[in-house]
Amino acid sequence: MSLSPQQEINRRRTFAIISHPDAGKTTITEKLLLFGGAIQMAGAVRGRRNDRSTTSDFLKVEQERGISVSSAVMSFDYKERAVNLLDTPGHEDFSEDTYRVLTAVDSALMVLDAAKGVETRTQALMDVCRLRTTPVVSFANKMDREALDPFELMENVEEKLKISCIPFTWPIGMGRTFEGVYDLRNKRVVFYQPTERGKANAQVYIENLEDGTLDDLIGKGKADTLREELELLEVLDPFDPDAFARGEQSPFFFGSAINNFGVRELLDAFVDIAPMPQSRSTLTREVEPHEEKFSGFVFKIQANLDKAHHDRMAFVRITSGRYERRMKLRHVRLGRDFSVKNATTFLAQDRVVTEEAFAGDIIGLHTHSGLKVGDALTQGEELKFTGIPAFAPELFRRARLLDPMKSKSLVKGLEQLSEEGAAQLFRPLEGADYILGALGDLQFDVIRSRLEAEYKVRAIFETVPLGAARWVTAEDPEALEKFKRENRHRLFTDIAGNLTYLVQSQWALDYAAQQNPEINFHATMEI
Ligand code: G4P
Repeated sequence: MSLSPQQEINRRRTFAIISHPDAGKTTITEKLLLFGGAIQMAGAVRGRRNDRSTTSDFLKVEQERGISVSSAVMSFDYKERAVNLLDTPGHEDFSEDTYRVLTAVDSALMVLDAAKGVETRTQALMDVCRLRTTPVVSFANKMDREALDPFELMENVEEKLKISCIPFTWPIGMGRTFEGVYDLRNKRVVFYQPTERGKANAQVYIENLEDGTLDDLIGKGKADTLREELELLEVLDPFDPDAFARGEQSPFFFGSAINNFGVRELLDAFVDIAPMPQSRSTLTREVEPHEEKFSGFVFKIQANLDKAHHDRMAFVRITSGRYERRMKLRHVRLGRDFSVKNATTFLAQDRVVTEEAFAGDIIGLHTHSGLKVGDALTQGEELKFTGIPAFAPELFRRARLLDPMKSKSLVKGLEQLSEEGAAQLFRPLEGADYILGALGDLQFDVIRSRLEAEYKVRAIFETVPLGAARWVTAEDPEALEKFKRENRHRLFTDIAGNLTYLVQSQWALDYAAQQNPEINFHATMEI
């Protein structure tokens, strides 16, 4: 039976996994795909890391450094839900990219290392979720190792992340004495059985905590502790879907991803409670997912998905309506209509031509059509989505060519890569030196290696005496003109033509702001 567009949209769950590196993001992604039937064997996600032609870790620099810097999308069906899972780059140097991925989801899954609790990157990512009021579900991983006491762990999260934790499962022991979890939703004990890597383990449950079976299985001491702890949990606030939606409560799960343990309970609850596609803001109005007409925005450009073709793919989050193959879409910024023949849907290991897709889904479009991050696609309406910012860079380099004959290719490469959002390019109002700005050093490495691979340009990046940037505007055009006249040597335009002020330090920036009260200095800029 085919579903109505309404029903299709309602069954979608689009979320990202966020974590501090090493907490287990890759492992849990793999187990979710395994339970979702999207892959047959664990190891496939990790295996992909070594295969440069597949979706993630395709860049040389990633391989060299063994880190994941690009985001991938994976879609699968689970219990009548259509799940879209978005990967976020783990490394902090790519935080802008992560931010943009988070604009495309309706909720996030935060993976914590149960021994470490909240780490620096967890905190930064959570700040982003809070900015956008994204609901967050938490998974305390690695319970098969010595971990923080579960109450302590929840306290750590509540204190550092200012969110109240609502346990959905509760651990019985930890490390070598880890026995399993109590599933508070289904009111039963799920026993832990370490498994050989890759195999899904059989589930063993008991439902009655009082008849002595539990005592026989794990010993009276542990059984009593569980009963006492469950009593303590009863005084906690109950789960409130509205508080979850407002980002005030986080459903909390315990498990061991590597042992497939606790992941099924997580996924079962997640597809139930995670929000369906939500509305998105534009300059003119709020776009609702159930509107009949299609709309969407580009939140990410990814290059080299297919290494042989040096292709560039724009990832589009559908914000309303339905996509259908060969449909005509309006590229709002360019004011141009085009017919989309070959959008791409991303499965776990495959990419297929999209026949149809709905609000909440992510589709990939080739960028021949000139798509950039932030661009809107509609069926004619002039929409401009808001909330997709660029952040003022903190690191600056000047690109110097090793082969002076290639200056055209260098400019083209730098322009295209900055349009993708790989770094930001600034052109001086005076002089000829282009400056590249980034938030993390690795971004320069990516640019350098891609210039070489894709544009056949060898360049080195020299340090420059710059340390801060702000976009500048003013209500009074005359004041802006005056500022421009007086500061020409410090003014640049970014790739979109916005005026940008670059100075050597934060101190110099504060001083300039003090001296020019009529000028607005912006640390973020809507794309
Ligand atoms: P990340 O993507 O968040 O960076 O983490 P990833 O999944 O790569 O996991 C980081 C390390 O933690 C890996 O070990 C992984 O095997 C291990 N790990 C993940 N989940 C669990 C768990 O539930 N229990 C335990 N004990 N370990 C877990 P590694 O040594 O870095 O890699 P590998 O040699 O195991 O592949």
